[in-house]
Amino acid sequence: MNVLAFESSCDETGVALVSTQAVGLPMLRAHALYSQVQMHAAYGGVVPELASRDHIRRALPLTRQVLHEAGATLAEIDVVAFTRGPGLAGALLVGAGVACALAAALGKPTLGVHHLEGHLLSPFLSADAPEFPFVALLVSGGHTQLMRVDAVGRYTLLGESIDDAAGEAFDKSAKLLGLGYPGGPALAVLATQGRADAYPLPRPLLHSGNLDFSFAGLKTAVLTQHRKLGTAPTPGQLADLAASTQAAIVEVLVKKSLAALKSSGLKRLVVSGGVGANAELRRQLDEAIARRGLRVHYPELALCTDNGAMIGLAAAMRLQSGAATASMDYAFDVRPRWALDQIDGANPIAA
Ligand code: KG4
Ligand code: ZN
Repeated sequence: MNVLAFESSCDETGVALVSTQAVGLPMLRAHALYSQVQMHAAYGGVVPELASRDHIRRALPLTRQVLHEAGATLAEIDVVAFTRGPGLAGALLVGAGVACALAAALGKPTLGVHHLEGHLLSPFLSADAPEFPFVALLVSGGHTQLMRVDAVGRYTLLGESIDDAAGEAFDKSAKLLGLGYPGGPALAVLATQGRADAYPLPRPLLHSGNLDFSFAGLKTAVLTQHRKLGTAPTPGQLADLAASTQAAIVEVLVKKSLAALKSSGLKRLVVSGGVGANAELRRQLDEAIARRGLRVHYPELALCTDNGAMIGLAAAMRLQSGAATASMDYAFDVRPRWALDQIDGANPIAA
């Protein structure tokens, strides 16, 4: 089965071709990505209307590119998948519209996919693929969640952020430090030149006794600390503040992940979402997990942030496992707000 997949939930247009195999996991044949980051950077954040218009421009050229790279034709496509939510409504509608129109023209079925399920399953595309069951740490720009994953479609929420996501904490702190948008990766680079213990920043909910997170207070603490540095902080002071901010976020993510492993009794951690690309998070998790004789799995670096490959993979794994069936009615809706433990089985149209 060949799945053509579209991702358009935010500011990246992703298209991928994923094929199931008789034995083993689905295979990524080709994928292509267009990032709108530069366009939105001028506004200091994502402008939804511009995002939607740009997805329209990119979807078909990227599709041609993917088919060309895979050496495949439209006639070989069996299912067209798209990100149904969560995300920006207009941006999601572009991907859903293109996917359903293409599927209708081909006479093939469609499947709407949950964006976070894509992130969650994305480590299955890496050479070191995990095995069920595991604890997933989902850390993206919009979500910070710990889930228990028993099988495709069997997800139990263990804890989540009660306010900002970890990616938001990176981005908002980076903005305060004048690092532009989205500042997470830039803050991580600057942090390599600073001392992580230079400034005392809060570790919210670290000892809350549950698996929830809170990052909204951190940006206020970073702002206060930044103000104390006066109007002309030195590059060294900014690097120290970046390193201290990263250390606060990473420490909470690592400790809560370990607590989730301990309380669930599971032996594997799977990390996914954009913040999963953070080198310091990976370093600390690797060390802590190895010390306890546990395992940790990550997606390939290029597949940590939004992409079409993870949507194609999630669609293929859902169809293969029987967790979902594809639909032939070409009526679609999108779900801008959609909890991962609320995904239903079959049709993309839900009540
Ligand atoms: O998963 P993703 O691409 O988009 C969402 O679904 O939200 O995640 C994007 C987030 C942004 O907040 C970005 O700053 C953050 O991931 N990010 C990083 C790094 N790379 C991406 N944060 C810290 N360190 C990084 N290396
Ligand atoms: Zn994402």
